[in-house]
Amino acid sequence: MPAPRILVTGGAGFIGSHTCVALIAAGYQPVVLDTLVNSDARSLKRVACITGVEPVLVRADVRDGAALDRTFAAHGVQAVVHLAGLKAVGESVADPLGYYDVNLAGSLVLARAMDRAGVRTLVFSSSATVYGDSQPSPIAEAAPHGPVNPYGRTKSMVESMLADLSHADARWGIACLRYFNPVGAHESGLLGELPNGPPNNLMPYISQVAAGERECLVVHGADYDTADGTGVRDYVHVMDVAEGHVAALHRAARRPGILMANLGTGHGASVLEVVSAFERASGRRIALRIGPRRPGDAPAYWADVRSAWRTLGWRARRDLDQMCADSWRWQCASPHGFDDPVPTLVPGAVLFQNKDRAINIHSNRGHTHV
Ligand SMILES: NC(=O)c1ccc[n+]([C@@H]2O[C@H](COP(=O)([O-])OP(=O)(O)OC[C@H]3O[C@@H](n4cnc5c(N)ncnc54)[C@H](O)[C@@H]3O)[C@@H](O)[C@H]2O)c1
Repeated sequence: MPAPRILVTGGAGFIGSHTCVALIAAGYQPVVLDTLVNSDARSLKRVACITGVEPVLVRADVRDGAALDRTFAAHGVQAVVHLAGLKAVGESVADPLGYYDVNLAGSLVLARAMDRAGVRTLVFSSSATVYGDSQPSPIAEAAPHGPVNPYGRTKSMVESMLADLSHADARWGIACLRYFNPVGAHESGLLGELPNGPPNNLMPYISQVAAGERECLVVHGADYDTADGTGVRDYVHVMDVAEGHVAALHRAARRPGILMANLGTGHGASVLEVVSAFERASGRRIALRIGPRRPGDAPAYWADVRSAWRTLGWRARRDLDQMCADSWRWQCASPHGFDDPVPTLVPGAVLFQNKDRAINIHSNRGHTHV
């Protein structure tokens, strides 16, 4: 039986490439559709290095209906994981039409192409930004939407569009995954986040300070009403997020209708807690400077994850120490990102080893702990 093919839009990006690893480990064959506007095709070589399978890359725009038709016809796609999109909040404020075009119109064109192809199983990358910033934590899926920027509104609108679609046509099975703060890297150190320019997010920033690429971390506000005064977020390991897509795919393929699920750990960590964990993982001191609060930043939020467990059978398994250790390994193994040569690896070779564990490649689960 050939592996079922899954179209992964945006599959060369940070979460997409890790999702390809998880899909292959679960017995699927990803077909990636990506413009590479914010990613690098060499991420897929790294996926191959880890799993032994290189996803097919279709270099196309998710807003291009004809390209989608050709891709569905050529590859016999059975379901779609839709991650392609733009994600910088500040940029979405400056260029709202660009964000509505890619994120909203792109999702509409994709859903129409899926319908034409008779492919009606969809996992959509949504975000905790749909909740806005005034919800008490833990935030459950039933909390009202209140996005506070164009980026969050594009995600909220796509969710509404997909809910309308699923109510109109019972053949669709859809899962909208609301990620909290995905961080970390694949534990091999071969795959991770590659920010374009100065990172917008905390973990890659800390990692670059630890590596000596940046002088110090500016903490945006240390006078919040939290235990240590710094902002609290629900950081979740990118491989847990990736595995959440596999769980959502199983559910959406089996059960028509639509569901929303938070992907988080259910716990918040403050900026200072993340810094301490990173110092432990890297053995380096992270220089800090306390700056003013950033407008629009919420003091603290984290996910209610009970529904994800109930509906998907998924929960995050990796803790903050592992998120930091894996980020640091990626930083050290690939300081120049994908410009560093892909290590030559043979099946069964030990990909990574420390005192606690070794990881082999090309096992039937992508990697094994021995
Ligand atoms: N990383 C996060 O913190 C986070 C949090 C919540 C939600 N999300 C969502 O998850 C998805 C993936 O995020 P990521 O962090 O991997 O970002 P990313 O930028 O690394 O990945 C997005 C991918 O989409 C591609 N892309 C962009 N526009 C496209 C288009 N018009 N057609 C085809 N491909 C296009 C990019 O080249 C990139 O490979 C996004 O939809 C994002 O909004 C991310």
